[in-house]
Amino acid sequence: MSAPPSKANGRTTAAIQRRYERQAAVYDLVEGPAELLLNRWRRRFWGLVPADSRVLEIGVGTGKNLRWHPPNVSVTAVDFSPRMLARATRRTQRPDARPGFALMDAQTLAFADASFDVVVATFVFCSVPDPILGLQEARRALQPNGRLLLLEHVRSGLPVVGRGMDWLNPLTVRLQGVNVNRDTVDNVRRAGFRILEVDNLFLDIVKLIVAEPAP
Ligand SMILES: C[S@@+](CC[C@H](N)C(=O)[O-])C[C@H]1O[C@@H](n2cnc3c(N)ncnc32)[C@H](O)[C@@H]1O
Repeated sequence: MSAPPSKANGRTTAAIQRRYERQAAVYDLVEGPAELLLNRWRRRFWGLVPADSRVLEIGVGTGKNLRWHPPNVSVTAVDFSPRMLARATRRTQRPDARPGFALMDAQTLAFADASFDVVVATFVFCSVPDPILGLQEARRALQPNGRLLLLEHVRSGLPVVGRGMDWLNPLTVRLQGVNVNRDTVDNVRRAGFRILEVDNLFLDIVKLIVAEPAP
């Protein structure tokens, strides 16, 4: 078991959670135009999930991935924002691919060790207050030979773009609870995973990351 979040982390978590509660009603509207691009990546991402696997989706949000869930897997979808989760449960779902939903903080997953074959998250570990703690929890909930699949935006390695992201970060955290300058690939490694693949999808910013628990 990983260490529980500290008091300071508890306060930050509550603040980020409030920001998502505030955004829930307009989230799909605001993100709508970006989805034209994101949907291509989402389809490819979910194509990597092996058939017949037990999947944990962390930070399901309003449920934009639901239409891409393969029919032959069993998905448990969690989020720490009741309003985001309520939207996901109301989203039209295919009867053959209906996930189980649970209100839960990624930093304290209420699942037994090794409960899942695959853990997935799309655009979530930019917001989880302690991303390494959240990723350690993902590792704990994964089978030793399981897979972590992430689609995330990260700090660009291009110097000028990266510095711009550092500059913008305090604003995006305050307004949306989103960090635009995280090194999520390194965080995955630091949480005890071995990186198998990093696919740069857009400007060294959007990455598809595949990892497995390190021995
Ligand atoms: C940017 S949204 C992405 C939603 C969805 N995955 C998508 O691709 O549209 C981030 C989501 O992660 C959730 N989230 C952030 N931190 C979390 C945490 N510590 N535990 C659970 N969910 C979290 C937020 O409530 C929000 O729904």
